Amino acid sequence: MLTNKPKTKILVDGGDPNETLRIKSLIGFVDGQTTNPSLIAKNPNIQRLIASGHTLSSEEENNEYKKIVQSISPLVGDAGVSIEVFADLKTTAEKMLAQGQEMFSWIPNAYIKYPCTHEGLRAAQMSVEKGIRVNMTLCFSQDQAAAVYAATMGSKSPVYVSPFVGRLDDRGENGMDLIRNIKKMYEHGDGHVHVLAASIRTVNHLLYSFALEAELATVPAKVLEQWTAKGFPMPDRDFTYKGVDTNGSLLKPIPYKELDLNLPWQSFNIAHELTTKGIQKFVADYESTLGRSA
Ligand code: E4P
Repeated sequence: MLTNKPKTKILVDGGDPNETLRIKSLIGFVDGQTTNPSLIAKNPNIQRLIASGHTLSSEEENNEYKKIVQSISPLVGDAGVSIEVFADLKTTAEKMLAQGQEMFSWIPNAYIKYPCTHEGLRAAQMSVEKGIRVNMTLCFSQDQAAAVYAATMGSKSPVYVSPFVGRLDDRGENGMDLIRNIKKMYEHGDGHVHVLAASIRTVNHLLYSFALEAELATVPAKVLEQWTAKGFPMPDRDFTYKGVDTNGSLLKPIPYKELDLNLPWQSFNIAHELTTKGIQKFVADYESTLGRSA
C-alpha cells in the first residue's frame, strides 16, 4: 500500500464499482472517480444486459448510470465522482443544465461533466451560479482552459478542467505540454480552477502530472496497477519527462500562449477538432447500449 500520498489527488477513470474497490484495496485509498459515456457503456452489468439481448431505453440507461455512481460514491474521498451529461453537437446549455441538476442530486459528492464547447461553457456558468460543482471535459487547448476559468469565476467550489493528454499524444502532439501550459497560465489566476490530468495512458504521464503538481489526475485501473507493481515510484528532483509516442519518436511540443484570464470567456478561441470528435464518440458509445441501434 502507498504510504507517501502524493499532493496530486488520484481518481480512478472507469465505470465499474468493483474495479474502484480493487484499486482502493491495492493503493489504500481512492480520492475520486471520473466516468464518461464510453466507460459506462463498458460497465459489466450493462454489457451483460446487452449480451442477453436486452438493449436499454434512455431512461433505463440513466437508471443504470445512477446505480453505478451511487455504488462508487461512498468508496471515494473528497475529489468526488464526476458524472457526464449526454450531449451531442446540438444539445443546448439549458438541456445540459437540466441533466446536470438531476445528476447532481444522485449523490452528495457529484461533479457534473460538461464539454469544453460554447454550450458546455454556458451550462457551466449557470451551474456554478446554482452551486453545482463542475468538471469541464474534452479540453485540448489552453484557450479552452482560459474560457473555463473566465466562465466559472466566482464559483464557491473548485472547478475542474480535464485536459486530455493521451488523445493529443495519439495524434503526435505532446499532451503533457498542455498540462504544463495550463498550470503556468493559472499561476496568474485566483486558484478556483483545478487541473485534472485526464486521458492518462502511462505511468510516466502520471509521474509528470505529479511533478507538475496537477491538483488531480484520473487514471485507468491498468495504469494504477502498473504504478503499484513498480512500487509506487514518485518523481524526484531530477525527474525529466520525454514526450515520445509508442515507437519512441518525439512528440511535437505544444507552445505556451500568453492569454489574459480576465477577458470574457466568449473571447477565447475554444474550437478544437478533438473536442468535436470526442463528443461524437461519446454519443456513439452511449447509443450502442440503446434499443434503437440494436
Ligand atoms: C476522464 O475524465 C476522461 O473521460 C478520460 O480520461 C478519457 O480517456 P481516454 O482518452 O482514454 O478515453
